[in-house]
Amino acid sequence: MAPSQASIPPSATNDRRQGLTPEQLQSYRDDGYLIIPGALDASTTASLLQETKDMLSTFSVDDHPMTKFTVSEDNKAHIGDDYFLTSGDKVRFFFEEDAFDTSTGKLSKPKYRAINKIGHYLHELNPAFQDATITPFHAEIARELDFRDPRVLQSMIICKQPEIGGRVPPHQDSTFLYTNPPSAVGFWIALEDATAENGCLSFAKGSHRRTPVKSRFVRKQGADGTEFIDAEGARFPQGYEMEEKVQEDEVYTLGEVRAGTLVLIHGNLLHKSEKNLSGRSRFIYTFHVIEGENEYDERNWLQPPEQGFSRLY
Ligand code: FE2
Repeated sequence: MAPSQASIPPSATNDRRQGLTPEQLQSYRDDGYLIIPGALDASTTASLLQETKDMLSTFSVDDHPMTKFTVSEDNKAHIGDDYFLTSGDKVRFFFEEDAFDTSTGKLSKPKYRAINKIGHYLHELNPAFQDATITPFHAEIARELDFRDPRVLQSMIICKQPEIGGRVPPHQDSTFLYTNPPSAVGFWIALEDATAENGCLSFAKGSHRRTPVKSRFVRKQGADGTEFIDAEGARFPQGYEMEEKVQEDEVYTLGEVRAGTLVLIHGNLLHKSEKNLSGRSRFIYTFHVIEGENEYDERNWLQPPEQGFSRLY
């Protein structure tokens, strides 16, 4: 067992339908993230993990465009083909950058070990993940975070495969899920233990209060693909006292968690994860909620389905 396992807090499953405690709510507001151990019971966690493994072993490679999902270090270049841009109302499979042999271009891993993520409409198209998304507990959390019309706009399983699971550089989720003013909150659920060894998240505590959302990830106008542009609208959500500060000084705190833990992540919070060089995968499920009353324009890479984004309540 990896040494850092000992530092993971024990799971503490209890009835969380009541929402967050005042201390948890304050901690989220101060830190920009909140770790809630035992939010998902062991059997649900195990069945979502099994569902994920079943999907990975049964999807078809034959008609797949072999799209890789990457975010560059400078957030400048990003995979942006049609398979990605039209995935908002589908369940699609995105390959890990390092799953290919560079000389032959062929997969160097079995397909179930080659996928970086599955997205972005599991919360509507997969009953098990839908049940794990639209819950009274999550609705109560959204109420406590002052959402008026919380909408689930995307969901993903992130695999962080053994040996090749890619690094995710520091970023703010509201860059990718921009509303005016920003409102995104990530609900991140560990399906397996996440440790320093297999590339757990780490967080720049409090950075959501001092780091504006300066750029947005959008569809290129008049061309294929995506790009980052300046965010011209509000750069902080309503209701926060913000102080701008350069982000070079940020110190990152490791978020090692056990399977079944829910982590709430403020859309302005800087967070990252390192490459998984270990022999153990780090499967997680995450979905994002935005304020449905805020402006969501047609430039966003992710466009709503005809019926609109899914209501959390
Ligand atoms: Fe993120």
